[in-house]
Amino acid sequence: MSTRTALQGRTALVTGATSGIGKAVAQNLARQGAEVVLHGRDRARGEALVKEIVSEGSSARFIAADFTDAEDTLRLAAEAGAVDILVNNAGLFELAPTAMTDAASFDRQIAVNTRAPILLVGALAPGMAERGHGSIVIVGSSAARMPAPIGAAYGASKAGAEILTRYWATEFGPAGVRVNTVSPGPVITEGSKAMLGDNIGLMDSTNARGRAGAPEEIAEVVSFLAGPASSYVNGAVLFADGGERSALPV
Ligand SMILES: NC(=O)c1ccc[n+]([C@@H]2O[C@H](COP(=O)([O-])OP(=O)(O)OC[C@H]3O[C@@H](n4cnc5c(N)ncnc54)[C@H](OP(=O)(O)O)[C@@H]3O)[C@@H](O)[C@H]2O)c1
Repeated sequence: MSTRTALQGRTALVTGATSGIGKAVAQNLARQGAEVVLHGRDRARGEALVKEIVSEGSSARFIAADFTDAEDTLRLAAEAGAVDILVNNAGLFELAPTAMTDAASFDRQIAVNTRAPILLVGALAPGMAERGHGSIVIVGSSAARMPAPIGAAYGASKAGAEILTRYWATEFGPAGVRVNTVSPGPVITEGSKAMLGDNIGLMDSTNARGRAGAPEEIAEVVSFLAGPASSYVNGAVLFADGGERSALPV
């Protein structure tokens, strides 16, 4: 089913498409024939990706919006218009010890990682339901299930997004709208490189594959969940994390 034309005639809004996983998702969906609406804050990077996708023969446009601002988030939904696929990917990870996580940092992570998906689904899923079809994919995180000594607020924001999958699968499923999550483990992106700097190699030791993932490996899973090949998958959390690390010392 995953052909270059599997998503022909479909429009997909991808949040956080200016970087990392979201960029790879947008490229992958466009290659399968979807018209993509790219979102991010950085207009220069957004427009550069539009150019690249259009030069490869697909359709794309860019809309900037800051998810720490609820009005701006709703404006994105209004400007995107009717979409068939929504990929809630934009994310913010401010990984700090709890004592160093102030209210502003917590609010930012909740606003981008949890509230933005709620506002976008609230604005766009009813239209999908009316049209009788739609696919919503959330990019979650293994942080929603696997605790670490830092990043509790991020984990909480991602756990919130993960439970929304099951609520929305129940709420919109009867109308033909599927909602699923892909839950990545560590992935090498602009964001993770900026966060870890010279310690980026640490990500290789957190899972059974012994390496961090590439954005394209997550994009393949998002495309599967977004497209017709997963027509009977609804309310699922699909782990793309290389396999959990053994609890035994090896
Ligand atoms: N990388 C990993 O190891 C990893 C692991 C598990 C889960 N994830 C999840 O995967 C998703 C993508 O992560 P990534 O590593 O690709 O991140 P990234 O390279 O840092 O990219 C983040 C994207 O989110 C957008 N964004 C950030 N803050 C925003 C805000 N306030 N308003 C609107 N957009 C905002 C950015 O837009 P601009 O740059 O244009 O501002 C960018 O497009 C996130 O949800 C993250 O939690 C990542």
